[in-house]
Amino acid sequence: MEFTDFGIKLSSHSGILQLMDDIGRPLPEGIKARPLGGGNPARVPEVEKAYRHELEKLLADGDRFEDVIAHYDSPQGRVGFLKTAAEFFSSRYGWGITEENIALTNGSQSAMFYLFNLFAGSAGGRRRTLLFPLMPEYIGYADQGIEPSTFVSVPSKCERLGEHSFKYKLDADAVERYLDEHPEVGAMAVSRPTNPSGNVLTDDEVARLSELAHRHSIPLIVDNAYGLPFPDIIFTDDAAPVWNEDIILSMSLSKIGLPSIRTGIVIARKEIIKAVGNINAIAALATGSMGPVLAEDLLRRGELTKLASDVVRPFYKAKAERMEALIERYFAGTDYQLHRIEGSIFCWIYLPSLRIPTLEFYSRLMDSGVITVPGEYFFFGSKEQEEGKAYPHEHYDKCLRLNYSGPDDLTEEGVEIIARMYREFSV
Ligand SMILES: Cc1ncc(COP(=O)(O)O)c(C=O)c1O
Repeated sequence: MEFTDFGIKLSSHSGILQLMDDIGRPLPEGIKARPLGGGNPARVPEVEKAYRHELEKLLADGDRFEDVIAHYDSPQGRVGFLKTAAEFFSSRYGWGITEENIALTNGSQSAMFYLFNLFAGSAGGRRRTLLFPLMPEYIGYADQGIEPSTFVSVPSKCERLGEHSFKYKLDADAVERYLDEHPEVGAMAVSRPTNPSGNVLTDDEVARLSELAHRHSIPLIVDNAYGLPFPDIIFTDDAAPVWNEDIILSMSLSKIGLPSIRTGIVIARKEIIKAVGNINAIAALATGSMGPVLAEDLLRRGELTKLASDVVRPFYKAKAERMEALIERYFAGTDYQLHRIEGSIFCWIYLPSLRIPTLEFYSRLMDSGVITVPGEYFFFGSKEQEEGKAYPHEHYDKCLRLNYSGPDDLTEEGVEIIARMYREFSV
């Protein structure tokens, strides 16, 4: 038996596999888990109540439940939901879209896999690449390219905001230069808010990227898994929802309570949506119906977005503030810098004095029951890495991503242990 190159690439070890494994695998007996790894969102009671209500409505409505579970939806997704979503986004933001501009996928992770491979790889004898203009980026992208060497990136700039605070900034001039010098770039992609750093690209930064995309006739993929208008885990006020024909906007119901139901929503120009639907047919036949069924009325009535702004955002904002206070308390006296938490469910801490790579630090933390994600996995797409060297960014092996959405007591224990071990492993 022999696996193909595609098989080997997709079945090999990857950061995202490690992360999902860490979520599911119990620690050795006697070790208490402090889960600060993975991307699991928190359970938010008011959000759960809303979905429970929708499900009860469905069950009480004659044989509608049986009707939902007994049929495949179309490859582009549940038609009623597509129409509702098109009307919602058009009336609220004036995007002028119809159901032909929206496709559903089984989670936005699948959407990214489809989109990246639509635009990066061999194309009529030429090689097309995908540019990540703000590295570090989401670990879940790193291994999604089917063809090797098709992901490229521009390292972020770093702005120091205070003794213990910093923020990544788009190096827009470097992105512009890269695009001018590399006509093979087939698309750009960013997460906004950014996983892992919690950075949120400003409206001006997105406008600049969108303008560059337009100028080079390539799409800008904006992964809005934590963004506006839902789940709205954004704490800055210069980040409006944005879509135009140069942008492919990817959304998800995962961080607004439905990670297990796997619903991704892609908004794009019609020919791209047609392609996503066609890939769905080949890769998955259809997308799951339950997410759209549970969310459709909530979206139409404006309740989904109200839950996002009135419940989900304040919930995570309080958690983020608590996390900042914990880090300040337990890391006091050490050399650390925390990325300003502008959104997402993560914080990103830079530990300049760490004398071992974070991959090793992560594994030592794991032995003490603290699950984190080491920073190295979030830096990808460089020539240097292909030559077996480190990613050219001073943060490469000195950062940890911490999920702050878990139970408060376990989060605090985790931070306390990380700070203690940082002292132990500092130069
Ligand atoms: C930035 C980003 N994009 C996409 C996803 C995938 O989410 P899902 O497939 O659950 O929609 C995640 C999950 O954590 C994420 O953090």
